[in-house]
Amino acid sequence: MSGRSTAVAHSNIALIKYWGKVDSRLAIPATSSVSLTLDAYRTETTVEWGNDRDSVVLDGDPLSGVPADRVSRFLDLVRDLSGRSEYASVVSRNTVPTAAGLASSASGFAALAAAATSAAGLSLSPRELSILARKGSGSASRSIFGGLAVWYAGTDDASSYAEPLHDPGLDLAMVVAVVNAGTKEISSRDAMRLTADTSPYYDAWVSSSRVDFAGMLEAVAAGDFTRVGELAESNAMRMHASMLGSTPPVSYWEPDSVRCLRLVRELRAAGTECYATMDAGPNVKVLCRRPDVASVSAAVGSLGVAGVTTSLPGPGVRVTEAPR
Ligand code: DP6
Repeated sequence: MSGRSTAVAHSNIALIKYWGKVDSRLAIPATSSVSLTLDAYRTETTVEWGNDRDSVVLDGDPLSGVPADRVSRFLDLVRDLSGRSEYASVVSRNTVPTAAGLASSASGFAALAAAATSAAGLSLSPRELSILARKGSGSASRSIFGGLAVWYAGTDDASSYAEPLHDPGLDLAMVVAVVNAGTKEISSRDAMRLTADTSPYYDAWVSSSRVDFAGMLEAVAAGDFTRVGELAESNAMRMHASMLGSTPPVSYWEPDSVRCLRLVRELRAAGTECYATMDAGPNVKVLCRRPDVASVSAAVGSLGVAGVTTSLPGPGVRVTEAPR
């Protein structure tokens, strides 16, 4: 086999979070989640089979150690699926600051899943791609799809997948306050394991997130932006509360994160409906409606944070170059 393909995938931000696994090897999550794929952050990955070893270059730098092994283990899954044994060269470019809580692993493994399987001559359905991408990084299962996506936790490999969630015209947009684009101190993978293993609040997180998930599906179906935003914000705060209860405690927040959260409350009080969510990093993502993007982004910019990005919903993964 020697084949070469390129794929592009966009990152996604969860409105109902995934935080904790019941099966680490298969990445079966404890709870179902809902996300919004963003147009602003994307990864483009080219995979070429027929190398003498697996090699990975990310944004021009060769990877080694744990990140390179993680890609190699993922390529093992594609080798198993295709019945081939060659190694691959992987060249990837991010417009997402890598490992800063802007979901680079989601777009990264979604693009890798699509490029590696296409280059290997496999033709997977979107659901099969979602199942495969999940095993690279859980959140990548959702980046197979554009706009709103739902990842059903499921109970085994075949039942844990994402699919598109119909958006009845919510007109969503996101303003990202980049508080710090540097690498985080603890990965989401390690932090969610620590939370599950040591936080007395983990069980409460799991049970409350299940209730939030059901509420989110109802709110989306009803086109109720207020409810969508309220649920997204409280679900994110509860996830962070569960990590604060870990031993040692995990906190991704920085002073500017807190200033952003306060600003969002003030904007709401002044009549602009917007809601905050945060992931495994200090950046604050503000969910609003498209007509409010300019005013929300100007307000966030006035805080003097490191950067502000605005984003509309983005597309699902696509192969842009396939073997002829
Ligand atoms: C806070 O998908 O990065 O962004 O499956 O271990 O690779 P692994 O974790 P990852 O975790 C994402 C956590 C989150 C919430 C979310 O995206 O749902």
